[in-house]
Order: sequence, then structure tokens, then C-alpha cells
Amino acid sequence: MHMAPLQAALVTLLLAPVAAMAAGSSAAPSVYRFELIHVDALAAHGAEHNSNNDDTYLDTATYSRREYLMELKMGTPPKPFKGVADTGSDVIWTRRVELQCEHGASSSFAGMACSSENKQQYECNECDKQQQQGGRYCAFSKRYGSKKMRAEGFLAGDVLTLPRKGGLPDKEVPISFGCARRCRDDKGDADCHRLIPKSADGVVGLNRGPSSLVNQLPRVTKFSYCLNDPLKPEQSSPLWFGGGADLELRSDNDAVRVQTTPLVQLAKLEPESLWKYKYYVELEGISVGEESPVVELPNKKGPEFNHKSLGGDNKGAMLLDSGCSYTHLEAAAFDPLTELLRNQLTAQVFQIKPPPDTDEKQHSKTCFRRPSWWFFFSWPRQRPDLVLHLRGGAKMHLRWTTYMTQQGNRSEFCLNIVNNSKSISILGNIHQQNMHMLYDLRAEKLSFLPVPDCSKREL
Ligand SMILES: *[C@@H]1O[C@H](CO)[C@@H](O)[C@H](O)[C@H]1NC(C)=O
Ligand SMILES: *[C@@H]1O[C@H](CO)[C@@H](O)[C@H](O)[C@H]1NC(C)=O
Repeated sequence: MHMAPLQAALVTLLLAPVAAMAAGSSAAPSVYRFELIHVDALAAHGAEHNSNNDDTYLDTATYSRREYLMELKMGTPPKPFKGVADTGSDVIWTRRVELQCEHGASSSFAGMACSSENKQQYECNECDKQQQQGGRYCAFSKRYGSKKMRAEGFLAGDVLTLPRKGGLPDKEVPISFGCARRCRDDKGDADCHRLIPKSADGVVGLNRGPSSLVNQLPRVTKFSYCLNDPLKPEQSSPLWFGGGADLELRSDNDAVRVQTTPLVQLAKLEPESLWKYKYYVELEGISVGEESPVVELPNKKGPEFNHKSLGGDNKGAMLLDSGCSYTHLEAAAFDPLTELLRNQLTAQVFQIKPPPDTDEKQHSKTCFRRPSWWFFFSWPRQRPDLVLHLRGGAKMHLRWTTYMTQQGNRSEFCLNIVNNSKSISILGNIHQQNMHMLYDLRAEKLSFLPVPDCSKREL
């Protein structure tokens, strides 16, 4: 999920006790492993997909709610909480107010008093309108620009249980979060299910904003995750913080295959902009397979990219967003990609408009068609990877069955990438699958290693 550039009332929390606790702990590097589950594992129906004899493709019509949920344990006694694992946002919030936001449910729970002291310390901008037992709490309001919705309620704190490996006892750390009593859109109260999947209790923000989980955990300078194929939702997808986040190299071959690219900042950011907390890489070019020509994306000389990076050439910045399913490309990158595919596949391009009755705003699909007499040749014979060329020479391979979906018969395929006229490129979770992604926040680098099965990665 990505936020609106002008975020209204984001409340930021800085937890002093976290640092104090970390200082008292042992010197051994802490390794925390969490499990992510794909929403399809929790739904009555598994992934909807279509298949032919050779390949299985995701059905793009149902993409928009394809999130990975992170399982946390909060409170005393610890209660499970499943939040959308979202590298695109910061705040942690829950909509299970009766379960997670009452002292009766958790003895360590505390609402954040809207006092002058907290107002200074925690950027507690406003008091919640509702009166609680011990007075008023700080208001919580979080807006998600991509869905034009917000979650609202009050701010609170509790303890989070950190699962440790190797027989070490679990660890508890204080954590702050929003308790969302309601969701709203521009018109008034709205169903939170339009913001998060039904099986999700809330959101776990993983960007580097002050109130994100990454920032609230003690001494975390890196984290990594490995998202499993959504067509195998029963397999878990691990996420590691701290020392355990490093990429596990099983062989010399793995070491060769690790790709690294810098995390970059956006050019022309307002100083107070929350976009500075997001993770971006720089997309320099695209090719179809390793053999095809690399289409170089335009550089700073042209006005093409709205979302420029601060990098030397001011190319297009691409947001790493695990909370967004689709990959989006700005028109300046999408148009050359379409042209490249048209040439490489010798196909016609056509558009499919979304059905008019869809609740969520859907984008039209860009599709490719071979003349029907080509049908006999099981088009396309080669199923080339799409290769994203990132700054520093890193190449990210997207498999054919993740970036294309078969449409009707074998002579038509549609691209699972959105032409984003809204000026932002996003690497969605569909195209992060089967890849161990390491965010090294101290070195400002993203490293990634393609792996056949994320659930088999032991750390
Ligand atoms: C494939 O589908 C397209 C559009 O629906 C149609 O025009 C074409 O004739 C079909 N080809 C075959 C071989 O069935
Ligand atoms: C992508 O979107 C832009 C802006 O809306 C439009 O001009 C362009 O034609 C679109 N490209 C394709 C291939 O549909």
C-alpha cells in the first residue's frame, strides 16, 4: 500500500523504552524469525488461477487483495495478530479493538494518554474524541492514498513477543500501535475490508518511518523476507530481523547469483515528506530475456519520469511495496516495455477494459495477440523472463507466468503490469515471489537471491 503524498494526520511515535531495553540485552546478535502467510491460505477458496497443459497463471481479476499477512503475538497473555506485511507504509494498527486494545484483554495494554507531555514526546497531535476510563487518548489516523481510505481510532502501547531461534526464550519488547475503531473514505464510514483483506486484523508497517515495526525493534539495521509463490499458499514465507536477515548462501553458485542495488531516495522531496521513509530502487532498463536488447529508460534530460531518483542519471525510482500486489510502471517505462514485447513476440497489442461494475478501481489490461494461424505453434515457444536492470548492474528476473496471464486461448496473453498514469512505479509482491530480499538499511542496499522454495530457507 502506498500513502498519499500529502498525508494528513499521521501520528508518529518514538518509543524511548525500546532503546533502554535493548541496551540491557546480551551482545549476541538477535535473530527474530516471523512467518508470513498468503491470504489465499486463509480463504475458503485457494488461489484462483487458470492453467493450460504447460503452465499455471494467476488470474489477474482477483489480484487486488493478494496480500501476505505477518503473524505477530501481542499483549499479556500474548494474542495472535495478523497484519498485512507492508514495506510501503510505516504504522502498525489493529482493528480488533475489543481483543487487542483493552486492559481487560491484555494486562500490559495501555492507551496513550493525550497529555501535554505525550504531545511533546510522541507527536500526539490531537486527542481522541471519545472519553476513556483514565481520560482521553491520543487520536490515531492513517490515510492510504492508493485506496483513498483511512483508519481512525486512538494510539496505544503493549508488548510484542519476539520469537527467537535455537531454544532461546522469546523476548518481549514494548511496541506502539494504532487501535482503529473505524475506517472511512471521503464520503464517511466505510468497510475496512476495502482497505485490508477480510482475514487481516490490521497492517504491519515495515518501511523506515519512526513508528514502523522495523524502527521499533531494538537494534535492527536489516531485515529480509522470502515470499512464496501465491499459487502455493499453504507454504509459509519467512521474514527475519537482525542478524538472521542475511542471505543464506548455500553454495558458491548462490554467492554468484546474489544481486545488489542501492536503495535510493526520491529527487525533489519536501523536507517533511513521509516518502523519505520508503524503499526505492532505480530502474535503468528492461529486457525480455538476457539476449534481447535492453531498453534503456530515459534519463534526466527528458521530463519523462515524475518519480525520479536522486541517482546520478535521475532515472525512474521504483517503490518496493510488499503491500501492493501488482507491479506498476510509469508510462515512461511502460510504453517502451510494451513496444519491446510487441517486437520480441511479433504480436499485436490490444487493451481490455475492466468490467464497469467492479467495486475497486481496476486498470485496463495491455494484451498481446498472435494471428490465429499461429495457434498451432503453441505461442510463444520460449517463455522468456522479463529482466529489470537496476542501478549497479543488478538484474531482477520476473518469470513469464508471473508477468503474463493467458487470456482465452493460447494466442492471447495479458501483461500483469499496470500502466500507471499516476506517476509512480511499484514492484508489487507478485513479482517479489521466490526471491530472498534483504534490506540493508545501514549500507542502503537491497540484495536479492532467487530461490526455488522460500519455506525451505532456514536461518
Ligand atoms: C483465440 O481467441 C481470439 C479472441 O477470442 C479469437 O479471435 C481467435 O480466433 C481464437 N483462436 C483460436 C485458434 O481459437
Ligand atoms: C500508458 O498510459 C499513458 C498515460 O495515460 C498513455 O499515454 C499510454 O498510451 C499508455 N500506454 C499503453 C501502452 O497503453
